[in-house]
Amino acid sequence: MTNIYAVILAAGQGTRMKSKLYKVLHPVCGKPMVEHVIDHISGLQTNKIVTIVGHGAEKVKSHLEGRSEFALQEEQLGTAHAVMQAEDILGQEEGCTLVVCGDTPLIKPETMEALVAYHLEQKAKATILTGATESPDGYGRIIRSEQGTVERIVEHKDASEEERKVKEINTGTYCFDNRMLFDTLKKVSNNNVQGEYYLPDVIEILKSAGETVAAYQTNDFDETLGVNDRVALSQAEKTMRARINEKHMRGGVTIINPENTYIGPDVIIGSDTVLFPGTVISGKTEIGSDCEIGPNSEIKDSKVGERTLIRQSVVHQSQIGSDVNIGPFAHIRPDSDIHDEVKIGNFVEIKKTVFGKGSKASHLSYIGDAEVGSDVNIGCGSITVNYDGKKKFLTKIEDGVFIGCNSNLVAPVTVGKGAYVAAGSTITNDVPGEALSIARARQVNKENYVQNIHSDK
Ligand code: UD1
Ligand code: CA
Repeated sequence: MTNIYAVILAAGQGTRMKSKLYKVLHPVCGKPMVEHVIDHISGLQTNKIVTIVGHGAEKVKSHLEGRSEFALQEEQLGTAHAVMQAEDILGQEEGCTLVVCGDTPLIKPETMEALVAYHLEQKAKATILTGATESPDGYGRIIRSEQGTVERIVEHKDASEEERKVKEINTGTYCFDNRMLFDTLKKVSNNNVQGEYYLPDVIEILKSAGETVAAYQTNDFDETLGVNDRVALSQAEKTMRARINEKHMRGGVTIINPENTYIGPDVIIGSDTVLFPGTVISGKTEIGSDCEIGPNSEIKDSKVGERTLIRQSVVHQSQIGSDVNIGPFAHIRPDSDIHDEVKIGNFVEIKKTVFGKGSKASHLSYIGDAEVGSDVNIGCGSITVNYDGKKKFLTKIEDGVFIGCNSNLVAPVTVGKGAYVAAGSTITNDVPGEALSIARARQVNKENYVQNIHSDK
């Protein structure tokens, strides 16, 4: 078995993005580009992964911590200079080294795998992953001899009129013989339009030394997109979105309109679940089968059971059971745990609350910092008064409780099992189980009131 190493180039600042955010950290479908790259490489069983980082290194490192080693490129003198920074970690290794740019988030793991396999099969010292495109502007062009063998790569800025007509481009992903790579990098000069040490120059140097250089062309040009500016970023987003949505549809999920359904790369969805337009599902979210989500719902970092409906609602960092009905217009805020068969209706906000099986809050409520038992009914407009301006307090509503409409439960407070709270009550003391608590002024009817005020005159 050949040892496989990988180098990710991620030290460039990305001036063309015109951003405070480091280029490779710009998200595509909610995940930083460089994380997509490392996800794809991780499928390859590499012996070591080294990421080249520059300014803002701490931020890039924190995203990749534990998944990569790092080498610092203090000054961004070009892609060859960047790879050279990995010499201390990789220089002595035997095997082949995959070099990938941190700004090409769409290259598929299968393509990288095929590139490595082709490289080994050809017994090449360097193999370039190339793509063919009708709009090659900005990319390095692959210059082949009359016999069709790869001779060198010329950067767009250095290319002649003739060379710019070439439609085969360098994707920026390569496979090298590791030792040969580090030996050759030392021979690269910066004698070009940009005054940079170009990694693609390694190809010409190897070629003129009589070594075997190969090219592996992917037929899916979408894969090869390098994100240098926000226009390309939106293209990457579109391609990645289509790819993710297709994966789910092939897995048995119905997506009514994939054009406006946004699913993060790490989301899991069960079969026969239907996603209606305007749905955004992101982060580490898992949704079971036979659910209906949307239209216009946002679910982030949450787990949803089976046969659950979530309409026009927002769910963040929470757990939702099976056979639950949420919305329209509900807001489930972080750390909520909604058990099976619950109903959360319109204009209900739930925060940091356990909501027991079969319980209901059907209209206009705020339930925060609460433990709600099973089969509880929370009447329209009832709220937990959980905050005194400084601290948050717990409200406990035990099994089978009935909270009448428009009640305030002033925490800390417990409503015991099976108790009733009369509509319009402001509960400040615990209610014993099975009791009826009424906490409001009695109604007074002043008979003949209107007549009396007139006769006073
Ligand atoms: C590069 C290739 C070009 C190829 C294209 C594919 C070179 C000279 N050109 O051009 O042939 O068609 O990618 O997308 O390699 N980086 C560093 N340190 C540096 C410079 C860059 O780490 O000193 C990193 C960047 O963060 C980026 C990657 O290397 O992730 C590529 O650099 P970039 O400036 O985007 O190169 P391109 O002009 O796109
Ligand atoms: Ca680029």
